[in-house]
Amino acid sequence: MHIASVGVSKFCFLFSLAFCGLLLLLIPALQPRMRQVELPPPRPRGKPAEGSPPRHAGDAGSAIELKRSSAGQGRPVKTGLSRNDNHRPDRETDSRRPPEKGAGLGGPSGSRDKLELKDIFIAVKTTRKYHRSRLELLIQTWVSQAKEQTCIFTDGEDRELRVRTGANIINTNCSAAHTRQALCCKMSVEYDKFIESQKKWFCHVDDDNYVILPSLLRLLSSYHHSQDVYLGRPSLDHPIEAAERVKSDGSVSVKFWFATGGAGFCISRGLALKMSPWASLGNFISTAEKIRLPDDCTIGYIIEALLEVSLTHTYRFHSHLENLQKLPTDTVLEQVTLSYGGFENRRNVVAVVGGFSLAEDPTRFRTVHCLLYPDTEWCPRPKPQHRT
Ligand SMILES: *[C@@H]1O[C@H](CO)[C@@H](O)[C@H](O)[C@H]1NC(C)=O
Repeated sequence: MHIASVGVSKFCFLFSLAFCGLLLLLIPALQPRMRQVELPPPRPRGKPAEGSPPRHAGDAGSAIELKRSSAGQGRPVKTGLSRNDNHRPDRETDSRRPPEKGAGLGGPSGSRDKLELKDIFIAVKTTRKYHRSRLELLIQTWVSQAKEQTCIFTDGEDRELRVRTGANIINTNCSAAHTRQALCCKMSVEYDKFIESQKKWFCHVDDDNYVILPSLLRLLSSYHHSQDVYLGRPSLDHPIEAAERVKSDGSVSVKFWFATGGAGFCISRGLALKMSPWASLGNFISTAEKIRLPDDCTIGYIIEALLEVSLTHTYRFHSHLENLQKLPTDTVLEQVTLSYGGFENRRNVVAVVGGFSLAEDPTRFRTVHCLLYPDTEWCPRPKPQHRT
């Protein structure tokens, strides 16, 4: 009994020793796993997201001097991307920028759902004083072929014109002055109306542009409206430089291309929706005020500098700043927009023959229209043998 008792306590002692030893062996094996769970790697401090609304940065600093030249005029027709990205070293490293799906490539991808004229929203910018001299001509010509989807943005009520022509005339209530604020005010209303329209493409033109609708449809059909597409004629032969006052305090500058508004430009719905934080519901006016640039430059700034989507340089859009007489006659109907010289340059018109004389049709728009739509009732009747 005594011996047995000693044996039991000895056994217990040895067993305890063995158990403690086993525990000591197990502890290092468990340790690394516990440490991993307890100590997550330090999180890097993130920059604000790309798509965040603009901060209300201080508006201090001097205005940017913008030299608008008529560069690009009379140059051979070039399509596709021809830009220099060297000034933008951050392009390659910033993985958060929106993908440039097919921008500038114009591949036939996604052309399965056929684009129709009714899918395009066309905004015409005008002012009260040009309702008679400029707008009536457009309403009689190309607008008559795209009545439903063309909206005319003006700054004065003209019930008579609206009732007589049935045109969609929108009084923006913006100032009639030709100032940056007034022009940006109209662009802001145009943008909001386009978003509201649910159409696939936004095209902006001026009241001295003729839109060749079949060419416009053909051009836009080579892209998809969900891609990021910004099409137009660059008004300068180099990107413009402006102080960055939206994303930063204006101490750094940005370079970007923009499509000249006077020649017209188009934006896909996919891209237009991404512009919303800086363009919708009056934000366009505050964005333009921050960078102190005109409406068309501000569009370029939002797309190229903020969204980092490239302008697709398209030389089929034409403004009155170009030498329009130089356009070869046999290519006129393949252009997307045309224009004409104003009072200061009456002879600067496209060279087209037929229909009307220069005296009867000083802008050549009626002649172009009759070449495109010979069945229009006011067009000179074709020779009898051409009738079918
Ligand atoms: C302009 O003002 C009129 C009258 O106040 C209003 O009915 C109209 O909706 C306004 N237009 C726009 C585009 O806000």
